[in-house]
Order: sequence, then structure tokens, then C-alpha cells
Amino acid sequence: MRDESVIKNYSLYDDQEIDNTIRPESIEEYIGQSDVKENIKVFIEAAKMRNEALDHVLLYGPPGLGKTTLSFIIAHEMGTNIKTASGPSIEKSGDLAAILSSLEPGDVLFIDEIHRMPRYIEEILYPAMEDFSLDIIVGSEGNSRNIKIDLPPFTLVGATTRAGDLSSPLRDRFGIVSKLQFYTVDELETIIKRTARVLQVECDDEAAHELAKRSRGTPRIANRLFKRVRDFALVKNDGVVDLNITLEALKRLKVDDLGLDNTDHELLLAIINKFNGGPVGIEAIASSIGEEVTTIEDVCEPYLLQEGLIKRTSRGRIVTDRAYDILGIERKK
Ligand code: ADE
Repeated sequence: MRDESVIKNYSLYDDQEIDNTIRPESIEEYIGQSDVKENIKVFIEAAKMRNEALDHVLLYGPPGLGKTTLSFIIAHEMGTNIKTASGPSIEKSGDLAAILSSLEPGDVLFIDEIHRMPRYIEEILYPAMEDFSLDIIVGSEGNSRNIKIDLPPFTLVGATTRAGDLSSPLRDRFGIVSKLQFYTVDELETIIKRTARVLQVECDDEAAHELAKRSRGTPRIANRLFKRVRDFALVKNDGVVDLNITLEALKRLKVDDLGLDNTDHELLLAIINKFNGGPVGIEAIASSIGEEVTTIEDVCEPYLLQEGLIKRTSRGRIVTDRAYDILGIERKK
């Protein structure tokens, strides 16, 4: 059972749950990100030919683009196990030491939100990544000594929405650095059709296309919207996902033609109505709509920027003419 508060706070973004049934296992099943995928395929093949662990990989880009999925695929393709952790969950250096010393040769260690790991813990990773060596201090104050433990060769896969927040010593230790991009409507349509097949739901082309158009370039949103539309279809349309039920569900979910939801609308309207279209600083926007600065920067803004609805200037954010057009608002002179 999921916690009641989680259900109440349901939003298009905060679902961290790993949906194993719809997650592709092999690199061939992974849709989109073709440059990243083709390169990683070569690096995996080369590492296997040399019988070595794959070099450390840093995946960065907005949330929901498949960084976790790709790390599981890397382990699958290398034929190794994967252990997962997240930056904020590693609170003590001992936590990281315990994870590292449990690794087996070739294993993938996936650390999500790696930019949120405290710096003094991060430092343990430097010798671990470079020399497969764990340097720890044992004993208490006055009677402590350093010991060095050999680790098996392993691959660290780090994921972050903010590559710029990573310290340079950490960033420099990743041999493979890949940026994930927003997906095209065609790619998302293929992902939705695949999800429908896996979940054994009838979904027609028009419905898949409409959902793809409104998924903000993001598979996690596409899959989540699909699951909600499937609920409407089950209750009101004999389980068939067609264009009509999709449009009805999207209206109820308050997802507009471009895939913008309530938070996006609030953000754009706040800049327009309270700050005369900008420029306005991110902190002022955040407090006026009651969101965290990091949520706005990492979750909302990347898509609004890519769609040309806002712009970042040295004096703050401004709303573009396109956003005024889409919202049907006249710009005040
Ligand atoms: N589910 C989430 N991301 C995916 C991708 N890139 N390809 C296929 N299924 C996915």
C-alpha cells in the first residue's frame, strides 16, 4: 500500500518509483538518445573485449529522461549486478564505504542525484574510482590510522540533473560523460505504444500521438500520463485508449496542448501578472508560487526554455511572446 500522503501529493513529477514492468532491459529496446546509445554500445563492447569493467559513466539531464533506466541497461549489457544508492541517502562516510566494499568484480554502482552527496563523502570516491582503493580511517581520535582496502574493478554510474553542481575533481574522474536530451514526439509515441503492449492495453495511434505531444519530451511523464488515461479508459471506455478518452482524461488532469500543467501555468502567470513579464529573479518567482528554487530550475524550467516560453537573461527570467500567445494574454505596453 502506498502512503496516503504520497497519493494526495501526486504530481506529474514526483514519482520516483521504479516501474520494472515497463522499463526496457536491453539497449536495443531503449528508444531515443541515439548518440548516447551508440557511443555507450561501443564502450561496452570494447570493455567486454578487454575483459575489463566499463569506465565510469556520468549521465546528466532533466529528470525523467531515463538515466536510471540506462544505468540498469548498462549493467544488463555488461552482464553484471547493479547496486543503487542516491546522493542524499549517503549520510556518513561509512555508508559509502559499506556499499563500495560489497561490490563484486565488474559491478555497476549507480548513484542517483550524485550532486547532492556531501563533499567529505565524495572524497572517498576519488581513490575508489581512480585506483579501486578504499582509504579509510579506523580507530578513535588520538589512536586512529589510515588503512587501504583494495576494491574490485567496478563501474560508477552517476546521474545528476545538475552537472554544474558537481565538483571538478569528481567530474574529471568520469571517463564517459553523456547528456540526455528531451525526446521527440515520434520517440515518445513509440515508447507509449511499447508501454501499452507491455501492459496489454489497446491504444490507437491517434491517442499515442496526442499523449506523446503532451509529455514534455519526457518518457516518465509519457508513461505516467498513459497509466492515468488507461484508468479513465477502463472505467469509461471498455479499457480502450482512443483519442476521445485521451482528450477527456488530459482535460481532467489539467494537462494542456503543450503538456504544461498547473505548476507551469502558475509560473508563467506569476511572471506575467506579478512581475510584468520579467525580468525577475528565480527566488522571487519561487516564493510567489510557493515552489522550491531547485524544483523550478531542475524540473519546470528546462522544458519551458526548450519550448521558448521563457528566457534566461542576466537580469532574470522573462516570458516570451510565444508564451503570451499560448496563454491568450495581451502583453501590457
Ligand atoms: N521507458 C523510459 N524510457 C524509455 C526509453 N528511452 N525507451 C523505452 N522505454 C522507456
